[in-house]
Amino acid sequence: MQEEQRSQWGSSFGFIMALAGSAVGLGNLWKFPYLAGRNGGGIFLLVYIVFVLIAGVPLILGELAIGRHTRLEPVSAFEKLDRRFKFVGVLGVLSGVLIPCYYVVIGGWVIAYIVRFITYTTSGFPADTGASFGAFISNPYEPIIWQALFLFGSAWIIYRGVEKGIEKFSKIMMPSLFVLLLIMIGRSLTLPGAMEGVAFLFKPDFDALTMEGVMDAMGQMFWSMSLGMGIVITYGSYMKKNSNMVRGGLAIPILDTLAAILSALCILPAVFAFGIEPTQGPTLTFVTLPQMFAQMPAGIFFGVVFFVLLFLAAITSNVSLMEVGVGYLIDKHKIGRRNAVVIIGLFTLVVSVPCALSMGILEKSAVLGFLAVGPFESFRLFGMNTFDFIDYLAQNLFMIVAGLCTCIFIGYVWGVENCLKEITNEGKNPLPCAGALRFLLRYVSPVVMAVVLLRAVGIL
Ligand code: PHE
Repeated sequence: MQEEQRSQWGSSFGFIMALAGSAVGLGNLWKFPYLAGRNGGGIFLLVYIVFVLIAGVPLILGELAIGRHTRLEPVSAFEKLDRRFKFVGVLGVLSGVLIPCYYVVIGGWVIAYIVRFITYTTSGFPADTGASFGAFISNPYEPIIWQALFLFGSAWIIYRGVEKGIEKFSKIMMPSLFVLLLIMIGRSLTLPGAMEGVAFLFKPDFDALTMEGVMDAMGQMFWSMSLGMGIVITYGSYMKKNSNMVRGGLAIPILDTLAAILSALCILPAVFAFGIEPTQGPTLTFVTLPQMFAQMPAGIFFGVVFFVLLFLAAITSNVSLMEVGVGYLIDKHKIGRRNAVVIIGLFTLVVSVPCALSMGILEKSAVLGFLAVGPFESFRLFGMNTFDFIDYLAQNLFMIVAGLCTCIFIGYVWGVENCLKEITNEGKNPLPCAGALRFLLRYVSPVVMAVVLLRAVGIL
């Protein structure tokens, strides 16, 4: 077989859009607004920004440097730099392979909701959005069809390649996402009573600062910037040697945080205008927001816009996750891109089915009743169903252990100086505040990551 040239980004703008596509995901649109709502609004935002600056920026630059320096997928990259740290790459790839198994479930719900909102034009809104959502996710077939479609779309983009697929689509999808966000903010801010939500988000109330909020902000920052799971290393490995990493490394935290703020600005004022408690958890997106859309003028239109927005955010993140596994198979096992996509796609499809069916469905399904005694529904690991267990394993353990070990690796094994040399192209692209970055890489980000880990395992 002819040796294929390693994939590369076509332009620095394309690279930034692709990595921003990974970072801006359901975490920004779904989780950030409700975490901010739960933790006092403005003060949460402030703490979040501090964590982005002291741990997010150093880590993203460090991971990009590992990727571009080695030009390898995460397992081979760590192996090349120090064999003892190969497991960090393995953890990253495992998270990259596992997370899509439930990410596609939610991606499927989002597509289903776009279609549902369109059908509301004729049928009208359901009287009870909560019951309607419950019936949907506990249907044994429908969510699976939608998630398969979402998965197929992601796989197709990846199959087209790094430049012609991931980069090209991100260059269209990411700017569209920001435009749609602005449209939604326009709607939200013109609702009567919306300004209360704006004040809640931008006026930090220091009395509302809690340990819980600080912990939430740390974990959210890490998840939102797609750190600790090989994505940034993989995407960094597709950078051209002479490209400017400083620009990219700073643009991503800025865009990701901007997207989080804009999402909160779109959701919180509306929540206040409708007199809903801003502390509501995950049901916000699929239950409360549809209820609000039902009550506002042109609600169907804004509902569709909102779910298209979620779709764009989710698919670009899912693509990045799956690309970790695909890149691993291509680099490490010399498998062609097409076959790698088929392998990862099939694996995701197979594991995503029990994830979808673990939404309390199997015991209700007479048709699939026999599965209830199988490994899915009745299968409890540490008291969790398949969906929650994979989420816990990947998000709370693998990613965070990998993140902490990456910090230790950069600070004390590979060395901050080597890392800085790569970031600045041997000094050609000077880095503002290099001294501060050295300090943060050595002393601050490992501590932040250690705290995040202690929290994830329930010690803090
Ligand atoms: N950053 C994405 C989000 O905010 C989630 C994600 C995590 C995507 C890790 C890829 C990898 O939703």
